[in-house]
Amino acid sequence: MTTQTPARPQLINLHPPSADMLRLVRDGLEREPRQLPAWLLYDAEGSRLFDQICQQPEYSLTRTEIALLESAAEDIARSIGSGVIVEFGAGSARKVGPLLEAMRPSAYVALDISAEHLQQATASLQIQHPSVPMLGICCDHSRLDALPDHPLMRGKRRVGFFPGSSLGNFTRDEAIELLGRFRLLLNGGPLLLGLDQPKASSRLEAAYNDAAGISAAFARNLLERLNNDLKADFNPAEFRYEAVWQSRESRVRMALISECDQTVSIADEPWAFRTGQPLVTEYSVKYSPEMARKLAEDAGWNWCRRWHDPDDDLSLHWLEAAD
Ligand code: AVI
Repeated sequence: MTTQTPARPQLINLHPPSADMLRLVRDGLEREPRQLPAWLLYDAEGSRLFDQICQQPEYSLTRTEIALLESAAEDIARSIGSGVIVEFGAGSARKVGPLLEAMRPSAYVALDISAEHLQQATASLQIQHPSVPMLGICCDHSRLDALPDHPLMRGKRRVGFFPGSSLGNFTRDEAIELLGRFRLLLNGGPLLLGLDQPKASSRLEAAYNDAAGISAAFARNLLERLNNDLKADFNPAEFRYEAVWQSRESRVRMALISECDQTVSIADEPWAFRTGQPLVTEYSVKYSPEMARKLAEDAGWNWCRRWHDPDDDLSLHWLEAAD
């Protein structure tokens, strides 16, 4: 008997150039409050730290969503049908396994901002699912106008998968824009969207400020990234990390707070920070089922149904493109 080694998944690199990064950082620092795009958190070290966050006892989102996918995958596959699975923000690609088993897609396409992470993730997934052809696309999917023309996708129905409540890291306007963009990228195919829901503030604040300090390290790593990629001279120790539930906006605000008056140089430009001034690293909006349905409809999708965990902490929403 001959055993075949699965082919290594191909990788297409469309990572934004660093000139774009500088422009986005400048735009973010000119906002009030200052806020940087969340995707900047995910360089190789940030992606590694995020994987650790997912394993912290306080952060149940990932575990709950994986358990839900395992229990509901067959029903989801029967309802949604199959095609090429296109996963947005695949990260470690630890969630798609049950869908690959249940849907038996013709291919799996993973999009993520970290090339290194994507390469490792698709390579190990390929070993577990040798019969599913795989492709990685390194990109900022919030700025992508079309998926590259590739034989694995040509003429095939696309099934979108956006788990992990990553949509919660966008403002409402950005989320609508992104969902509208996904409609185009999926060519009329459906979308399975995982969204975390509002819950007790104590649980949410603990989830985003874990006792082991991984969430804080994840946020501070953004400053290290700016130091490395944009020749900045942040001293991460001079910023305190904070995660606060803002109930009116139904979101957790994660920020680094300047501990003193200081001036930081970024690509040779001086930026002054006052004591107590926040630099927002991320918002994490929590969507009730009603909010999720309204958001989807405002973005041109028909809401079909949802699957949720026994405690109704999070949902997988099935959306179909509205005509
Ligand atoms: C990726 N995203 C959905 C995470 C969240 O829960 O908002 C990012 C995160 N940041 C800190 N902890 C988790």
